[in-house]
Amino acid sequence: MAQVILENVYKSFPHRKGDAPTPVKDNVNKEDTRAEGVSVLRRINLTVADGEFMVLVGPSGCGKSTLLRLIAGLETMTGGNISVGNKLVNDLPPKQRDIAMVFQNYALYPHMTVYDNIAFGLRRRDCNGDKASDSSFVENFLVGATRNLPKGLRYISQKERLVDQQVRYVAQLLQIEALLKRLPKQLSGGQRQRVALGRAIARNPQVFLMDEPLSNLDAKLRAETRAQIVKLQRQLGTTTIYVTHDQTEAMTMGDRIAILNQGQLQQVAPPLELYNRPANRFVAEFIGSPPMNFIPVKFQAPQIITNGDFRMTLPEIWGATLQKYDGQTLILGIRPEHLSLSVPATKNLPVQVELVENLGNDTFLAAQLIIPGFQDHSFASNSLQVRIPPDRTVRMGENTWLSITPEKLHFFDPDTELAIYPKTSPMLPFEQK
Ligand SMILES: Nc1ncnc2c1ncn2[C@@H]1O[C@H](COP(=O)(O)OP(=O)(O)OP(=O)(O)O)[C@@H](O)[C@H]1O
Ligand SMILES: [Mg+2]
Repeated sequence: MAQVILENVYKSFPHRKGDAPTPVKDNVNKEDTRAEGVSVLRRINLTVADGEFMVLVGPSGCGKSTLLRLIAGLETMTGGNISVGNKLVNDLPPKQRDIAMVFQNYALYPHMTVYDNIAFGLRRRDCNGDKASDSSFVENFLVGATRNLPKGLRYISQKERLVDQQVRYVAQLLQIEALLKRLPKQLSGGQRQRVALGRAIARNPQVFLMDEPLSNLDAKLRAETRAQIVKLQRQLGTTTIYVTHDQTEAMTMGDRIAILNQGQLQQVAPPLELYNRPANRFVAEFIGSPPMNFIPVKFQAPQIITNGDFRMTLPEIWGATLQKYDGQTLILGIRPEHLSLSVPATKNLPVQVELVENLGNDTFLAAQLIIPGFQDHSFASNSLQVRIPPDRTVRMGENTWLSITPEKLHFFDPDTELAIYPKTSPMLPFEQK
């Protein structure tokens, strides 16, 4: 087991013909663009503790797979340091990093049985002379000489006995003992997935890297295998970095989640902290489904927010924190579950229901804001996502009012999009650092 430390990791790929120049945000340091070519990862600093299950999440193309491949040694870094278990591995080839990676597409050997697929890495390690024993010559001779005899009479080497023990242990752990003699093509997607996991587990590495290992499975199997991976990881205690772009997987699996966007880490925190105290608007929108709603509002000290006819008095706790924004526009963030159907009032939001989705356990609405005099400052969509209890019937096209749970408000700076939090907040379990 081992901790994994990434320090100032940068990665850029050489420009190819037809590539657009690397987009550089105004608030990004000059040093971030120092690497020539297409900059894919910038200033990544992350410590994954010994035995921790870290989920790496972010939209497509943000650099998740690239980061895993850097840790595994399958790509070279442009800058920075990676250590595994207090050992700098920057220049070590993949084989010497003691890391097992599970790829999205399983990559099983099609001509080998499940048994041999799991045993492959173990046999190869021994063949490379990691632990060559004195008796290996004699053993090889005996194995060769008895190869064509009936099974019970063949000589089985000490190495092969250890491999067999490990393969059967892993097969039992993953409940695939009955499949050991099959070829990959004779397995279902979920079974193949478990064999791929088995192959990684059998090597007993210091670190597991998993790159969207469940994305080919159907919803039910996905949920089952998800639970199985979490259970296994707890059992084995192996440091794990698990990549996904599915926020439900991220929320349910990780001890902590690292959110990546455009090659930069946005926030690293336990799942509920991300939900309750997102560091910025990107995280607030990415974590939670449907995503958080954003509405531009004008702040008037001591504690009023307005937009058109909408006017709401904030809980006292916001007064001092927002004072410096007096007379300015802020972004109000409100989650779909913190809006509810209500009565006409200036502190409520008048909407027209555009879409009703009954899921049985929940009902989701998409509703258009229809506040007289409302200004959208051109950055906000006026459509709100709302979650209501399933027993409330709402018709499409209906006009109604939404009340906001005052204890569940979020505010973001309109320029930096960083979240603004009161110094101490009884509604939120985590103190601002
Ligand atoms: N070998 C390469 N040469 C040039 N650009 C590359 C190379 N590999 C990846 N990229 C680019 O790096 C960026 C990050 O790719 P990466 O595969 O890490 O994304 P990802 O977060 O894993 O996305 P997804 O969720 O779609 O798998 C992408 O813009 C991609 O086009
Ligand atoms: Mg990827």
